[in-house]
Formats: sequence, C-alpha cells, structure tokens
Amino acid sequence: MTSTSIHGMWSSRLAFILAATGSAVGLGNIWRFPYVAGQNGGGAFVLVYVLCVALIGVPIMIAEIMLGRRGRQSPINTMRALASAQGASSAWQLLGWMGILAGFLILSFYSVVAGWTLAYIFRAAGGGFTGLDAEQSNAIFLALVADPERLLAWHTIFMGMVMMVVARGVASGLEQAVRFLMPALFLLLLVMVVYAAQAGDFQAGLSYLFKPDFGQLLEGGGDAILSAMGQAFFSLSLGMGAIMIYGSYLSSQASISQNVAIIAVMDTLVALLAGLAIFPIVFAYGLEPGEGPGLIFHTLPVAFGQMPGGQFFGLLFFVLLMFAAWTSAISLLEPIVAWLVEHRSISRVRAAVWAGVTVWLLGIACLLSLNVWSGLTLFDKGILDLFDYVTANVLLPLGGLLIAIFAGWVLKTTVSRDELGATNGQLLYQLWRLLVRFIAPAAVVLVFLNAIGLI
Ligand code: TRP
Repeated sequence: MTSTSIHGMWSSRLAFILAATGSAVGLGNIWRFPYVAGQNGGGAFVLVYVLCVALIGVPIMIAEIMLGRRGRQSPINTMRALASAQGASSAWQLLGWMGILAGFLILSFYSVVAGWTLAYIFRAAGGGFTGLDAEQSNAIFLALVADPERLLAWHTIFMGMVMMVVARGVASGLEQAVRFLMPALFLLLLVMVVYAAQAGDFQAGLSYLFKPDFGQLLEGGGDAILSAMGQAFFSLSLGMGAIMIYGSYLSSQASISQNVAIIAVMDTLVALLAGLAIFPIVFAYGLEPGEGPGLIFHTLPVAFGQMPGGQFFGLLFFVLLMFAAWTSAISLLEPIVAWLVEHRSISRVRAAVWAGVTVWLLGIACLLSLNVWSGLTLFDKGILDLFDYVTANVLLPLGGLLIAIFAGWVLKTTVSRDELGATNGQLLYQLWRLLVRFIAPAAVVLVFLNAIGLI
C-alpha cells in the first residue's frame, strides 16, 4: 500500500484537524441538534447523545480514520484493498457502497437546508428581522418552505458552491476557509449564549438541556435513544466514509487518537453551545421546543430582531452557518468523487459535476416534499424528513457498526498498533480495542433492537 493518496494530501496535521472539524461542525450541530433534542424532550436525550459520542463515536472515528489512512483510496476501494490484505471477504466493499448511498441522500437534504441559511443571510442583511415577534418569524419561515422556486434557487446555488470546491480538490480550498471560520463561529456562539443568558429564560434552557428526565426518554419507545445515537453519528460525520477519505489524506506520522479527541470535543461543544443559545429564547417566548426542523429558523430571528446590533449579529451568524454547512457538505461529496475518479478514470472536475448533479436532482425531490408533494409520506414522513431520519438513524450507525467490526476483529493487530503508534500493552490502545470490539458494536446493536421493540 502506498503512503500517499492520488487525490492529494493535507499540508499539515493542523490542516487535517481543521478539515475534519469543518466536516463535523455544521448544520448537524446548530440546526439538527437543537431540533432533534427538542423533539425528544431535552436532558435525557442530551445525556445519551454525549455518551454515544464518547463510547461509540470516538472509537469508531479512530477506526474510520485508521482504515482510510491505511487504504489511501476512496472508501469502496480502501475496503476492498484492506479486506484482501487481511484475507477477508471482498464483500466488505459493500460498506463503501452503503456510504456512497448515504452520502447522496444526506447531501440532497443537507443542501436544501443550507439553502434556507442562504435565504436567511439576505433577509438578515436587509434588516428583515428587526422587531419580529414569534408569529411573524414563523410566518417568514413557512413562506420560504412553501415556495419551491426560491428553495430551488438556493439549493442550486449551494450545490454549485460545493461542486466548485470539490472540483478543485479539497486540500487546496478547504484549509484556508476553515482556519478563520471555526474560531469565528465559536466566538459568535459564545456571544449568543451570553445574550440568551441575559434576555432569555436561561434557567429554563439550562435545565431543559442538562436535567435528564428519563421518563421522556422511555416514552418514545426507544426512538429517542436511537435518535440520540443517530445524532452522534451525524454530527461527527461518521459511518459513511467522509472521515475515512479525510483520513486517507493524512500523513502517516500524525497521531490519530489525539486528533480525534480534539475533533470530538469541539464538535460536542458547538452543539451544546447552540442548544444554550436557542432554548433560553424558546422558553422566553413560549415557543415549542419540539416543533421540528424549523426550530432555529423560527427562534433565532426573534432574538436577532430584539438584540442590540441584531442586524449585524444575525447576518454574521447566518454567514458563518453557511460556511459551516459548506465545509461539511464538501466532505459528503468527496468520497463519491474520489471513487468516480478512481473507478472511471475521469477528471476530478467531471466527477464533481456528475455526482453534484445527481445530488441536486435528489435535492429537488426533498424540497418539493415541503410543499407540492407534502401529501407524499412514508411512515408519516415526507421525503426530506425520511432521508434525514433513515440516514442518521439507520445507515450511519450500520456503517459505523461494520467499521468497528472490521477494525476490531478483521484488521490484524499489527496493523492497528502500527497506525495508532501503540505497543500492545499500552493502556489507551487496549481501551480502544475494548470499545471498538465490544462496547461500540454491542451498543449499536442494542439500540437497534430496542428501537424496533425487541428489547
Ligand atoms: N457532520 C456534519 C454536520 O454536523 C454533516 C456531515 C458531513 C456528515 N459529513 C458527513 C454526516 C458524513 C454524516 C456523514 O453538519
């Protein structure tokens, strides 16, 4: 196996951390986490989510990066090469195929939601939030999602932005963007938490997020636990090969476990900060925490409309959210494009266009499901909600489970030790082995069984 990737390499260890954090931190933290936490009753959900990040997410992220760096190809070809090197079945490449499917589905709705963010940038810039009350804010959001043409325009622009970066190669464009973006987003979230603490019902928000009410969790019949696990996978970009391909561009010298610790902590912090910025406002204005995917688009404009300098902060917030979504979306397209380049020997530009246009078409189905096709539902969910639910709660955990099994049971310990720079007796290595072989796979399986009502 080669020690560099044909698709390029990160220029430094910091570049990898920035890119992987850029992938992890996105709409998942700021849009998805608050709305899913709100739908599942808050505190207990948050606790299970954090546990899933630590016990399932972290070991699987280590495994996923390790496999990517060892294979140095797109997830499909990496899994094929690694399986054959271990003398295991070539069926392991199915893991890569599942990731491609998940990537298409996630990016299609992700781009539509990123489009909402673009629309809100312009609204914020034009002073459209000034003096809004909760009802007016809701009306603005509902008018946006009811309008397929506007949704299509923003979705198209966003996919164009994603294709542009991926066509040029992620290593070149991404590093610069994330370097200033991440600190800025972090600071702005802090500003908003401070505002929420002063103007919102901070006490109510705090206890909603951090005081577990296990009755709420059990009421959902296992769905809340499944959603917490799904949120952990979604937020950490795990289980579909995005982190695997980013790992394949990482130098062999860098320490995987250290990097993963940093990425996981940052990602979780951003989600919790977003929750702390949003729920105090939700309670102060008597809004409904479980209202669903519109939550932040309904809540935050009210806060920006009231806060001093709100026009500026509102604009800044949606611009930063757009960047965060962009750096995440890039990582969703990259594994597909890398595979097309390897498999069809076409140029990166053509591969990005083909993959991007396919996602764009799927995205149209998602955006129509919000209006024209709203009657079309399966399990009570429209296309967008269904893609969101099925990818996060089924495909990603399943992908993660297979990654854990492969890294823990199939991959030779000489390989994993080499990749982690560990000796066999080293405590941290043994801890990772324990988590990736037993705890994480067992947890995923138990949560699945619980969700379908078998336990
Ligand atoms: N983690 C990103 C977010 O929170 C979304 C994302 C990017 C993703 N790449 C992924 C989710 C791969 C699952 C798999 O917004």
